[in-house]
Amino acid sequence: MPQDDSCCRVCSRGFYSCHWKHSSENKRKHAHCWFSVVTLVSLLSLCWIYICLVTFNDQDDVNWQGFTKLKRWVNWFMVLIIISAVLTTYCVLLLLFALFQVALGEPLDLHWIHKIFLFFGVIFIAFGVTGISHQWRDEWPTVPLSLQATAPFLQFGAVGALTLLSPFVFRGFHTAKEKCPKFLIAVVFVVVSAAIFLCPLYIDSPCLIKLHELPEKPKLIGHRGAPMLAPENTMMSFNRSIACGVIAFETDVQLSKDRIPFLMHDNKSEFLRRTTNVKEKFPDKDFTHSFNLTWEELQSLNAGEWFLKTDPFRSVSSLSEEEMETARNQTIPSLLQLLNLAKQHNISVMFDLYSLDEDNDTVRTILNSDIDPSLVLWLPPAKREYVNKTAPGFIQVYNTESDMVKKSGKHLNVKYSGLSIKEIRRLRSNNVTVNLWVVNERWLFSLLWCAGASSVTTNSCHLLKDMDQPDWVMEPPTYKITWIAVDITSILMMTVLFIFQWKTHCFCHRTGTEDNTSAWNEKELSPFLPTG
Ligand SMILES: *[C@@H]1O[C@H](CO)[C@@H](O)[C@H](O)[C@H]1NC(C)=O
Ligand SMILES: *[C@@H]1O[C@H](CO)[C@@H](O)[C@H](O)[C@H]1NC(C)=O
Ligand SMILES: *[C@@H]1O[C@H](CO)[C@@H](O)[C@H](O)[C@H]1NC(C)=O
Ligand SMILES: *[C@@H]1O[C@H](CO)[C@@H](O)[C@H](O)[C@H]1NC(C)=O
Repeated sequence: MPQDDSCCRVCSRGFYSCHWKHSSENKRKHAHCWFSVVTLVSLLSLCWIYICLVTFNDQDDVNWQGFTKLKRWVNWFMVLIIISAVLTTYCVLLLLFALFQVALGEPLDLHWIHKIFLFFGVIFIAFGVTGISHQWRDEWPTVPLSLQATAPFLQFGAVGALTLLSPFVFRGFHTAKEKCPKFLIAVVFVVVSAAIFLCPLYIDSPCLIKLHELPEKPKLIGHRGAPMLAPENTMMSFNRSIACGVIAFETDVQLSKDRIPFLMHDNKSEFLRRTTNVKEKFPDKDFTHSFNLTWEELQSLNAGEWFLKTDPFRSVSSLSEEEMETARNQTIPSLLQLLNLAKQHNISVMFDLYSLDEDNDTVRTILNSDIDPSLVLWLPPAKREYVNKTAPGFIQVYNTESDMVKKSGKHLNVKYSGLSIKEIRRLRSNNVTVNLWVVNERWLFSLLWCAGASSVTTNSCHLLKDMDQPDWVMEPPTYKITWIAVDITSILMMTVLFIFQWKTHCFCHRTGTEDNTSAWNEKELSPFLPTG
């Protein structure tokens, strides 16, 4: 064999089996078992990276959970994504090299170090899946939801992969000597292909819609302002969200010792630690509740430096010098400051309330601020009756549909995965406004746009404001023609390949060069070399 030690052969063999020279025959007994393992782990790692990428929208949840447990800010989600990406790249490369080995007719003996890495990969993914199921169960619905945005493209990809892999399967089919494995290969291949070809019949996406039926673009609500562009829940953050054209500020209210409502998300034991310099300012006090500090003490804290230090969204580098200076100078705002800003710009305010509000200082502050009551979107469920009586002009927003129906409300605010696309459409056709939180990624925003959501609460208003169309919209007949065309092209290509391989195989048989000395002759498996 003259080309036996050509560069790509040596590289491929070197990567897969770590033998730069030919290996001995006796190591190859389990070669095709290991080949199956490589294939399965590759598919598994692709599914896992898919899960990581679609849950990227909620990366902040993971990092925040990590913070409440460890009291230290680390971008855990980024670590997870990087490890997963490395793992997936490794597994897919291994699979490609394995296929390359087969194509070259080289032996398939996987080196033990790859076996160990594959084992660790499976353990890592198993830990990941268990972790999500235990700690983050309400994230799972995001995965099927995301398929409504990605399924058409995944199907095209799967058809492409199937077409590319088919020569290997055909070769296995042609060279199988017994009836039984031949039959098995044929059945599995036909079933898998049929599933891939026909799954568009079951693909249902709100973005498969006629262009003129596309609902209006959802309005944007700034989640704690614009937390990617400025430290969350500061006046700078709300000012920056105005530039995105938000229709409402979403924030979190707590009461100080002297009963001043102020804006701060974190409460309980992690109160103030993540977003202020409370540790430096009051080193020997362990504040755990908002009523531990007076408004004056709260105002002495810096609420912006943490943002520049920890860079929670890896966005600080996009800020100008001047913006960084402003960010460094932020303090905790009071609710009144925000109400004044809202009044001035005719923007609504919606908030969660974290303190027990016995005397309703929050409602009093709002009424005293003279803001148009219809700009107040009242979310906290605890005191709804009281609020309805004292401030009938506030708009009551409900967290569940059943609460809303009971009180004959018209406004709903739920997590984006809390409603199916059908439910969103039904509610919207009943003129209920549906706000969904927290939507940061374009694909998710596009999907909810097609579904007809009224508005979304977002961290990334600066990205979403620039979209004038969902990422993709396809008319159903166009999609039907496209997938049928793709399927037929693939079937034609596979038929040609099958016939071609069949002819060459018969030809080789007749010339009688078949080599029966080894039970597992890799050369025979190569789809591109004539056997023998
Ligand atoms: C903060 O309030 C809690 C609950 O009343 C109390 O246990 C804690 O000692 C207070 N901490 C400080 C530093 O005052
Ligand atoms: C920072 O804030 C202080 C007090 O609020 C103010 O005097 C100072 O001018 C501010 N600096 C900048 C750069 O905004
Ligand atoms: C405020 O905005 C609403 C719509 O969001 C509009 O109907 C109303 O006229 C505006 N008020 C003022 C004073 O601009
Ligand atoms: C929703 O509002 C539109 C126009 O504002 C109206 O024509 C329609 O009848 C309303 N639908 C329901 C179910 O109330």
